[in-house]
Amino acid sequence: MRVSALAFAVLLTLGPPAVLSRFNSISFSSVTQCGSFNVHFSGGKLPSSLPLTLTVVPFNSTPLSIVIPTFSWNNNTASGAVVTFLPLPAGAEFVASLDDAYGHPTGLVSDVIAVEPSTNTSCLAAPTPARYTLPDVSTYSQCTPFNVSYTPGVVDVPPTIRAFVPKNHSFTVNHTSSSGAGISNYLMDVRQGKRAVLMLSDDTGFRQSTDLFVVQGDNSSSTDCLPQFPATPSPDNSKPSTAKTGGLSKCVSVPFG
Ligand SMILES: *[C@@H]1O[C@H](CO)[C@@H](O)[C@H](O)[C@H]1NC(C)=O
Ligand SMILES: *[C@@H]1O[C@H](CO)[C@@H](O)[C@H](O)[C@H]1NC(C)=O
Ligand SMILES: *[C@@H]1O[C@H](CO)[C@@H](O)[C@H](O)[C@H]1NC(C)=O
Ligand SMILES: *[C@@H]1O[C@H](CO)[C@@H](O)[C@H](O)[C@H]1NC(C)=O
Ligand SMILES: *[C@@H]1O[C@H](CO)[C@@H](O)[C@H](O)[C@H]1NC(C)=O
Ligand SMILES: *[C@@H]1O[C@H](CO)[C@@H](O)[C@H](O)[C@H]1NC(C)=O
Repeated sequence: MRVSALAFAVLLTLGPPAVLSRFNSISFSSVTQCGSFNVHFSGGKLPSSLPLTLTVVPFNSTPLSIVIPTFSWNNNTASGAVVTFLPLPAGAEFVASLDDAYGHPTGLVSDVIAVEPSTNTSCLAAPTPARYTLPDVSTYSQCTPFNVSYTPGVVDVPPTIRAFVPKNHSFTVNHTSSSGAGISNYLMDVRQGKRAVLMLSDDTGFRQSTDLFVVQGDNSSSTDCLPQFPATPSPDNSKPSTAKTGGLSKCVSVPFG
């Protein structure tokens, strides 16, 4: 049991940057409190490792990994859709990524989406206490180390950290070392000026997220740590994605490629 959990953690850690993207376009709907969330995807091809999982990262909160056991994929039109409920309160903001069964992204991260009000309170639960202590989010800087601390014994395997850049890639944050006394060292491999949110996950299934932040640095910052992605000559339609007026069917396109 322990060995397989460790192997799984290692597998997640090894995940290369998002070169594994499978869909050309993924669109995410707006969502109301406790309401349903629609994801449409098209182009490219279905990943070989199914089921699809939807990773939802509310800021400064507890991320969700929702396994999508059934979805429709039309092989003729090369498009598909999933619908799921999100147990998030009005006012929460999040990003989402459609992943394969290993948690590798199948496309780009959504834009920041704000949960709209509704009268449905059935999904609301007490927040989960944090397990990891991270630096103040105003201090993250391009290719600069940062430390995560935790209680030894509660955490045996350092957490895997994945960075999500809204409307851009998600990728693993380099884990550089662990001092063994409840501190692990990482390297902020997000480009300066970009907004990002971090998701920490560990071998017990625990998840924690940071607030959204802007990566500090300037043009003299080291670029050695930045992950390389295939060139993406993408038509940036710079549409706002928190479609306040739309119903659930209003989808916002995040083009890929
Ligand atoms: C309220 O939300 C829950 C879960 O999010 C959902 O199952 C239920 O159908 C919703 N109720 C209404 C009336 O929409
Ligand atoms: C799906 O479509 C692709 C190409 O469009 C084709 O190669 C493949 O055989 C099709 N698969 C099925 C199960 O129809
Ligand atoms: C992602 O961010 C990089 C670095 O800023 C940029 O060059 C690239 O065009 C972005 N990709 C998309 C799809 O916006
Ligand atoms: C991070 O932890 C290491 C020990 O593992 C320590 O030497 C270093 O000063 C710490 N860095 C910061 C920024 O706190
Ligand atoms: C780096 O930034 C400084 C000031 O922000 C600017 O003067 C300089 O031209 C920039 N260098 C490059 C190579 O972009
Ligand atoms: C960070 O990770 C990337 C790929 O994930 C790798 O190419 C790079 O060498 C790593 N950098 C360091 C300093 O470990």
